[in-house]
Amino acid sequence: MEVKTICVVGAGNMGHQIALSAALAGYTVTCTDIDGEILRKAENFADTYLPERVAKGKLTGDQAGAARARISFTGDLAEAAGGADLVIEAVIEKLDVKRKLFAQLDKICPPHAILATNSSYIVSSKIADVTGRPEKVCNMHFFNPALVNKLVEVVKGPHTSEETAGTVMEVSRQMGKIPVLLQKEIYGFLVNRIVSAVKNEAIYLYDMGIASYEDIDTAVVHALGYPMGPFRLMDLTGIDLTYHIGMERYQETGDPRYRPSPLIVEKYLKKEWGRKTGKGFYDYK
Ligand SMILES: NC(=O)c1ccc[n+]([C@@H]2O[C@H](COP(=O)([O-])OP(=O)(O)OC[C@H]3O[C@@H](n4cnc5c(N)ncnc54)[C@H](O)[C@@H]3O)[C@@H](O)[C@H]2O)c1
Repeated sequence: MEVKTICVVGAGNMGHQIALSAALAGYTVTCTDIDGEILRKAENFADTYLPERVAKGKLTGDQAGAARARISFTGDLAEAAGGADLVIEAVIEKLDVKRKLFAQLDKICPPHAILATNSSYIVSSKIADVTGRPEKVCNMHFFNPALVNKLVEVVKGPHTSEETAGTVMEVSRQMGKIPVLLQKEIYGFLVNRIVSAVKNEAIYLYDMGIASYEDIDTAVVHALGYPMGPFRLMDLTGIDLTYHIGMERYQETGDPRYRPSPLIVEKYLKKEWGRKTGKGFYDYK
């Protein structure tokens, strides 16, 4: 199946950069969000990022202009998704919100359209059954920041057709990404299962008063060669996301191991969510 038009639903931390990556790769892109302010921010980002790339000599003026002309922003879901060949959902990490959205998308989108979720952990079989096209539903998991990070995890559920997985792998390649294919679903896929193990241990060490989060980050960066430590990474990905992931998993399994630690709950309630609110573990003001 040939994909020409991509709709990105959710223009937050991930969505605005996924949308711009797709536009830069030559796709016609519509980007939508229920929050008008977030949508404006996403559009402003496109208007500043592209000229910056030209100034740095990474893009020609024509390339930037063409990418900008290919991407549009609207608060109207039907307008955004009505003509899409592929929808990439990047809304809040809450299963009930994603299920409601996929049911809506199933009604709005053309029958051939693929519906993919950028969820960090939720497998698409938890969502596909609300649609009449489960064979066209899969995970397409980008990494933060999506304009820079090249990895995409494409996850096939038992309901996902080979054709759908193949098309999403191909679109990822066209976007200049390096896709990996998971033949079977597993909660958290590959990377986040590994990252979570490190993150949870880091929070445990901090909660136990063994070291400051700055020193834990320093240790991980210098000994393991990670580009950033787990606390700085949580600031980048959003402490609200860490909170929601933990709560969703705890509510689903009833296992207290998954309940967000008091440290995360405190940061969540204070709205110290990391870079996006100007303060998390570190200060960004
Ligand atoms: N933050 C990361 O590092 C990261 C990395 C990979 C994947 N993800 C996944 O991407 C998804 C989005 O995460 P994020 O960090 O960008 O979140 P975010 O909170 O920054 O953005 C989510 C956006 O979705 C919008 N939204 C909520 N419900 C909506 C709806 N029904 N229709 C349209 N828009 C809606 C919100 O207004 C918000 O702007 C999550 O599933 C998350 O697990 C996040």
